[in-house]
Amino acid sequence: MLVDTTSILQDAQKNRYAVAAFSVYSLETAQAAINVANREKNPVILAVGERYFSSVDVEGFASFIQTVAQKTTAPIALHLDHAYQKQSILRAIRSGFTSVMYDGSSFSFEENVRLTKDMAEIAHLAGVSIEAEIGSLAKGAFSDEEEGNGILTDPRLAEEFVNETNVDFLAAAIGTVHGMYVTKPKIDLKRLEQIRERVHVPLVLHGGSDTPDEILKQVIERGICKINVNTEISMEAVSFLTRQLNDKPGLHLSVIMEEMQEVIENSMTRFVRLFSNI
Ligand code: 13P
Repeated sequence: MLVDTTSILQDAQKNRYAVAAFSVYSLETAQAAINVANREKNPVILAVGERYFSSVDVEGFASFIQTVAQKTTAPIALHLDHAYQKQSILRAIRSGFTSVMYDGSSFSFEENVRLTKDMAEIAHLAGVSIEAEIGSLAKGAFSDEEEGNGILTDPRLAEEFVNETNVDFLAAAIGTVHGMYVTKPKIDLKRLEQIRERVHVPLVLHGGSDTPDEILKQVIERGICKINVNTEISMEAVSFLTRQLNDKPGLHLSVIMEEMQEVIENSMTRFVRLFSNI
């Protein structure tokens, strides 16, 4: 069933686990995420990034996800990931997304507060919850995300940001990157503890891919309730496709897509189990 993102995250915060937010941009990725939620009896967040709006009909995609989600017993949320345009927030709200993310992290603190506060007012008027980001992730390898400046979140500013903007959950930069790491991951757990002491809304970790399991467990213990994952799943699907196309040229696309969906489901299942089973 489709549920409010906040209710999923509040339960995760209370019971100290994290919910996976999987990037979805095609029928296979969306169907895979919903199948995994159902099979694992676990909540899952389907995250549609603004950058996919150029290839996906948002209204049509949202109604597909809503229809399939209504048939499941597991809680499913539909989230707008990394939106930079007010127009995208409005489109997502009108299409029945259960939460939106406004990303003003490339602006100065003051400008980020001003713009995010505006977007939060719009979202809240529509009864939709909102995530925002302070600090910004650097970009690693193979990600399709925007390049960030890699500035880690200042715990004092994080507190001020949440108080000023009234956002429902906060993405904090603690050293993960979007995509695969090109150098050894350096995750600032101390900083996360300091943010947690000051910020009481659910905390979000972007850049879940390629982060060692042990570190993911430690961030969940320290209060991360939502972990976004995209690149690692894409890489597993793409290397499967490459092998298939090399080994069995002439396969029908419908067969390859079905098999690829299974690979995506296996990858998502691993994350769901890891995040819920600490
Ligand atoms: P990865 O691609 O590193 O998993 O990050 C995904 C993400 O944070 C989407 O918002």
